[in-house]
Amino acid sequence: MEFSIKSGNPEKQHSDCLIVGVFEDKKLSDSAKLLDESSLGAISAMIKAGDMNGELASTLLMHQLPNVMAKRILLVGLGEEKSFAAKQYLKALRAAVKAIPSVAKDVGFYFTELRFNGMTLHEKTAQIAEVFSDATYQVNALKSKKPTIVALKKVVIFVDKIQESDASLALAQGLAIAEGVKLAKDLGNLPGNVCTPTYLGKQAKQLAKDYGFKVDVLEKAEIEKLGMGSFLSVAQGSDEPMRLIVLQHKKGKKDQKPIALVGKGITFDTGGISLKSGSEMDEMKYDMCGAASVLGTFKTIGELDLPINAVGIIPACDNMPSGKALKPGDIVTSMSGQTIEVLNTDAEGRLVLCDALTYAERFEPSAVVDIATLTGACVIALGHHAAAVYSNQDALAAELIAAGEVAYDRAWHMPLWEEYQPQLDSNFADMANIGGRPAGSITAACFLARFANKYDWAHLDIAGVAWKSGKAKGGTGRPVPLLSTFLIKRAMVE
Ligand code: BES
Ligand code: MN
Ligand code: ZN
Repeated sequence: MEFSIKSGNPEKQHSDCLIVGVFEDKKLSDSAKLLDESSLGAISAMIKAGDMNGELASTLLMHQLPNVMAKRILLVGLGEEKSFAAKQYLKALRAAVKAIPSVAKDVGFYFTELRFNGMTLHEKTAQIAEVFSDATYQVNALKSKKPTIVALKKVVIFVDKIQESDASLALAQGLAIAEGVKLAKDLGNLPGNVCTPTYLGKQAKQLAKDYGFKVDVLEKAEIEKLGMGSFLSVAQGSDEPMRLIVLQHKKGKKDQKPIALVGKGITFDTGGISLKSGSEMDEMKYDMCGAASVLGTFKTIGELDLPINAVGIIPACDNMPSGKALKPGDIVTSMSGQTIEVLNTDAEGRLVLCDALTYAERFEPSAVVDIATLTGACVIALGHHAAAVYSNQDALAAELIAAGEVAYDRAWHMPLWEEYQPQLDSNFADMANIGGRPAGSITAACFLARFANKYDWAHLDIAGVAWKSGKAKGGTGRPVPLLSTFLIKRAMVE
């Protein structure tokens, strides 16, 4: 798909399909009005006849309007004009994308002209690329019947002449984020027998080749040398070889400390000896979505060649039961030297992340953000709308949350109070790996915090947002938009 920015009146555009908005109460958007005037009232006639009432996300396809060069006009309902805002804009946009006729080879959006509080031209433009990509995503399914080929080749976003250069930058960023999201979805959707730690390592190497990142993919012997006893203890139950993946992008100032992204890469989580129950266990192939979001964000970084220094760290392995597997009660020694009593082998995410967090110290990072499908408790607390944010620096949490707001990839600040820490007390080791039933997402974050006290750190629990269950089962690519927006903003100030 080729996206471009253009300006010009709608009636003069040679296009297979132009997309314009219509409010309730017969109120036309600027472009709909121009088309209506040229066609001597063809659109208002349709509205009068009751074919289009402007209801939010309703659509009507019209053909061959008189004095209009485009072959088709897609009217999209915008709802009430006075309540039109970002949410409605995104909903109308999604409906429009879904209603594009399959024969159209090129389409043009007259959408950024819609004015309302809360979204800049930049956001409106970037979101066209992102929503478009999201709504037309096809799972790279392992189905023998290949998906139907779409005719659509070109998407034009119309803006005012003076907005063209601003919109072009916004489009580039929107497309780069969309690419990152797509990679994260693809990786998440792949099954555990394909998307193994080895496979993730290969993906990282491919990204490094495509964008000039430095890459190291460490194997078991090197991970042993580093003393990652906690990470190793999770991997020991599986025949699938483990990996520690390290990506580096160095395009910031030379002395600038990097931002490190650490992603949980459990390529399948059975729970280990503390085995999960069978229902929906297949969804634990998504337990590497933190890792996928790091790789996806690196794709965005690479596409934009952001002037920043960034490190990606991914501890990847399976969590399996076996004769060699970690057992409840086992005590392991983390890379930091702190010992951990493993009371539940299903709390494995924190066991792999703690060593990756210690490893991050060697990069002297300005901030470390870890991303993990860490706890079912997070899903209970926040459902599927917001990721949980924990941080040892309120300013960093605020920065991430603000980035999530701009990117429509929301997150919510959770407490990381000292009062929760005693839930991790162990009689036999420095700490236990679980903190009991109350506040499960918080105590998991408290555990990680003990390994992240040498730098500014934030933890995103993405268990509720990384994939959808049910009929629309699939990865969402979240929080790539949040992370990318966070890094783009950092690149602008630094
Ligand atoms: N990967 C899971 C968390 C998870 C569960 C994510 C359901 C999404 C949906 C994690 O490794 C896990 O099993 N956590 C346990 C922790 C518990 C044993 C303290 C959980 O949440 O049940
Ligand atoms: Mn688990
Ligand atoms: Zn897990």
